[in-house]
Amino acid sequence: MKVLVIGGGGREHALVWKFSHSPRVKKIFCAPGNAGIAALAECVDLKPEDLPGIIALVRREKIDLTVVGPEAPLVAGLVDALEQEGYPVFGPRQRAAEIEGSKVLAKEIMLKYNIPTARYGVFDDPARAIDYIKKTGAPCVVKADGLAAGKGVIVAEDQATALGAVDLMMKQRAFGAAGERIIIEELLRGEEASILAFTDGEKVIPLLPAQDHKRVNDNDDGPNTGGMGAYAPAPIMTDSLRQTALEKILLPTVRGMAAEDRPYRGVIYAGLMITERGPYVLEYNARFGDPEAQPILMMLESDLADILEGLLAGELDEANLRWHNGASVCVVLAAGGYPGDYRKGDVISGLEQMPDNVVAFHAGTALKTNRTVAAGGRVLGVTSLAENIPAAIDLAYQGVAKINFTGMHYRKDIGQKALLVRPCVC
Ligand code: AMP
Ligand code: GLY
Repeated sequence: MKVLVIGGGGREHALVWKFSHSPRVKKIFCAPGNAGIAALAECVDLKPEDLPGIIALVRREKIDLTVVGPEAPLVAGLVDALEQEGYPVFGPRQRAAEIEGSKVLAKEIMLKYNIPTARYGVFDDPARAIDYIKKTGAPCVVKADGLAAGKGVIVAEDQATALGAVDLMMKQRAFGAAGERIIIEELLRGEEASILAFTDGEKVIPLLPAQDHKRVNDNDDGPNTGGMGAYAPAPIMTDSLRQTALEKILLPTVRGMAAEDRPYRGVIYAGLMITERGPYVLEYNARFGDPEAQPILMMLESDLADILEGLLAGELDEANLRWHNGASVCVVLAAGGYPGDYRKGDVISGLEQMPDNVVAFHAGTALKTNRTVAAGGRVLGVTSLAENIPAAIDLAYQGVAKINFTGMHYRKDIGQKALLVRPCVC
């Protein structure tokens, strides 16, 4: 079969890498891909949002399965467009992807279907938002309603920061139309975890829980990023918490979406805060998380093509989802300056020296006169597979030690939270 993966980051490299192990997959395309993906797939220079271009590619190459990585084409309706032409495609349709595209919709679904989430208010008038903050005070969290490339959330510990966030989103329009409407919500305290699940719209099969590292510096310090590393499975998600997340969050979300005439098929991602009162939803994503996809797909033993084809055929079966024993850790190597303005074009060395059971997934790379250069904020995701978390941490950092490019920086504490002994939140 011929597979097309849409996107060009670490998540997409991990998807392409996983498909490359399937005996049934004869050819892989990726649009646009990157330098690492180019070793496994034919890269086609199309933007993920170029719907007509992608549809023409699928037609021309008679693609048997298209898998959409990023949110923008999902929210733009790529899945709907390909389905209308009769092509198999994995990912939610536009109306379902809005659960990520509109935080207000996500909150409404949670409220209506009793899914635990922070208390909130919705505002489309800055004066009313300011009044509300002055009345309720800080701490609080201010969120742009629409897609803002992961930057539309400001955690405000004090009132001045909260008021500044309203100004930034609604008056300065830093995120354009995405910030015309905002949410102001209660700040939740706890530890975060990501739970993803495959769903055909009825059945819900959770994947291994993962944990992201959003802040740029060690000990969760500094500004938020797209994610500086991840690991799976995340021990904070005990068996009992996984069951709670399935029963109280994932199943009601999928059932609620069906009841709202937004049937959801694909992978659904719930970003959780594990509070003293149990897991609360911070956000939904309508796709695999990045970097979480890298350790999760590294841990997946089963053939991804079989799973996704089965899901599309209405034969989603937990028995087909087998996992490797042990754990996987992904350390993101970022470009100098990231998450602000960052360097581009630095030559990367050491990629060919990865130890066994380590893959350097490319997130932002390009080929320049036959050399691999940094071309994005997150450049690589060095991902290991080992018998347990400490061994996977050690192995991932052995891989990291081989790689170098000017300005490269990374966190030294990826996975450390998994080693903490913590009280049980059941
Ligand atoms: P989101 O895109 O909604 O997941 O928000 C990005 C990050 O902001 C999350 O990963 C959390 O670290 C933080 N965050 C979002 N909502 C809350 C909340 N209600 N309480 C505390 N932190 C939050
Ligand atoms: N790692 C968080 C995300 O993919 O949005």
